[in-house]
Amino acid sequence: MPNKNIVLVGFMGSGKTLVANKLGSLLKREVISTDHLVEQKEKRRIIRIFQESGEAYFRQVERDVVREVSLKRGVILDCGGGVVLDPDNVTNLKKNGVLIYLSASAEAIWERVKGKKYRPLLDVEDPKAKIKELLDAREPFYKQADHMVDTHGKSVAQICREIMSLMKDDE
Ligand code: S3P
Repeated sequence: MPNKNIVLVGFMGSGKTLVANKLGSLLKREVISTDHLVEQKEKRRIIRIFQESGEAYFRQVERDVVREVSLKRGVILDCGGGVVLDPDNVTNLKKNGVLIYLSASAEAIWERVKGKKYRPLLDVEDPKAKIKELLDAREPFYKQADHMVDTHGKSVAQICREIMSLMKDDE
């Protein structure tokens, strides 16, 4: 278990950040968020990067960040929800890491993200419909992960236990 990265992927609001932080404290491992690194590099929030430079630019910075963090070992990676859309990202992340897809239904995601204004892709007239559309389109990309963990009705601690047990089998 000590060497492989635990790479959390999944839709916005699937709980990646909460689970990554809890796993980090349980396993005493460094937690790295790709979104956070993008913001640090750009010295501006993601919403502003989208507004000022567009999604394609954001994806380019995200790709650079993913390439860098993929070289690490033994860390927990909290990946932005669109990271798996780029095949190079998936290849890079799998080199040193086990990809865990935190799955959630469109309804559950809506309940978790509604009222939160910092996600540019959901800043549209009908965010609920947008979630459904994006989730349907992205499902095959998320399924490239090594494992899937269904998050419905589970506590963060429970999800972490499942991930730790999956990681044991993988090493
Ligand atoms: C995105 C998800 C966001 C962030 C950006 C784009 C996406 O991260 O990277 O807004 O394409 O799904 P979270 O999944 O952490 O919200």
